[in-house]
Amino acid sequence: MKRLVVVSNRVADLSRSAQAGGLAVGLADSLRQRGGVWMGWDGQTLKYDDQPEPRIRKIGTVTQATIPLTEQDYAEYYLGFSNSVLWPLFHYRLDLVEYKSVFLDGYRRVNAKFADALTSVLQPDDIIWVHDYHLIPLAAELRQRGCNQRIGFFLHIPFPPPEIIAAVPRHRWLVESLLEFDVIGFQTNTDLGNLQHYVEDHLGCRMEQDGRIRIGKREVIAGCFPIGIDVDAFVEMAEKPNEEVAIETQRRDILGRKQIIGVDRLDYTKGLPDRLRAFARLLELYPEMRKTVALMQIATPTREEVEAYVEIRKELEALSGAINGRFADFNWTPVRYIHGTVPREALAALFRASQVGFVTPLRDGMNLVAKEYIAAQSMEDPGVLVLSKFAGAAEELREALIVNPYDVDDMARNLCRALTMPLEERRERQAALMKRIRKHDARHWLESFMAALERGETQHAA
Ligand code: G6P
Repeated sequence: MKRLVVVSNRVADLSRSAQAGGLAVGLADSLRQRGGVWMGWDGQTLKYDDQPEPRIRKIGTVTQATIPLTEQDYAEYYLGFSNSVLWPLFHYRLDLVEYKSVFLDGYRRVNAKFADALTSVLQPDDIIWVHDYHLIPLAAELRQRGCNQRIGFFLHIPFPPPEIIAAVPRHRWLVESLLEFDVIGFQTNTDLGNLQHYVEDHLGCRMEQDGRIRIGKREVIAGCFPIGIDVDAFVEMAEKPNEEVAIETQRRDILGRKQIIGVDRLDYTKGLPDRLRAFARLLELYPEMRKTVALMQIATPTREEVEAYVEIRKELEALSGAINGRFADFNWTPVRYIHGTVPREALAALFRASQVGFVTPLRDGMNLVAKEYIAAQSMEDPGVLVLSKFAGAAEELREALIVNPYDVDDMARNLCRALTMPLEERRERQAALMKRIRKHDARHWLESFMAALERGETQHAA
């Protein structure tokens, strides 16, 4: 088997347990199983760059190679082009795109820097797998340095329709850079279809039924590879007794109260304000629900230097305060809003102890929290997943209660349905969902992508 070299902007700290969901969890689960090299940014920002070699660290089966960024790189490449241009754009939020040409310069510069660092650790027989929107031009940069290994790319976030992509200057360059990879993986068929439309509309190429795109003399394969989790590992974590969660759960049981849980990075794509409004609407529409249910929303801060993130934080703090002010009683707090990080072991236990998993992004690549919530449920008395139709996971998790995250009334009605769903129906849905997350788990994701990358086998729909 060839040595696998994974590259992503952020490298998870494999010696510590990660947060819920996201790229780091999906990748860490997969890479631990196969072993290999993981290259990325070490999270440090330096004033100046002295072009150091990547720092090498071995953790179990994985060798990490990391590099720092300069303050300028951080501002232009990470906060700038990646998170003020590509992130909102790819999540269909043109209103939040803040384009500056220096951002694009920084993006190209850092991709070149990644290519330099990577070249120093590559071996001729390696197979390279690049992840996410930060590193779209990396294949082109590597090819310029003489790299002729197979290079794959996986986009963890959505890929929007051509009309949206076309709003960013140099979009053609961006997509042509993407097409320099040998295999391009997406989370959903919708994303794959959007690439197809782009290459047809803007590049005059065709994508074949099996995802092959001929571009000049080269052939690229595009496919749908829905990411998954290590189900058994998460089940085990959820079943492990957690004292703090257990005490809190017993208290709720005595009072006959239920819990709805939401866990997200604090991001405007996650639909958090309307999620809180939907919970308030539940209490309005069904007054008998008051004092019988509470919402726990954990929101983990990231990218706090980007203005849109400052705004969403303020909005959520105001909203949760307003809902509590309006509905709370001396012995009942309707919303517990936590701005911070909760260890993954505690999250697993919290998911298991919550009767509803409430996952309502406005747009999301996959959303692994949805899969983690399912994995954490007991078969005897499972909870119900209420899931946005705009999460990639909704293409697979059809037995969840699927909602429109823009429709507060629809979400409130489905919350009520979830909270009152008979045991038998909950069990049936849970069994079907469990089957689905097992079918498309972390291992399947890695193996099917690798099959395409190593052997040029194409992949069809989920
Ligand atoms: C999403 C992205 C990842 C990113 C993660 C955390 O899951 O797909 O690429 O690493 O968010 O965001 P951050 O900006 O903190 O790395």
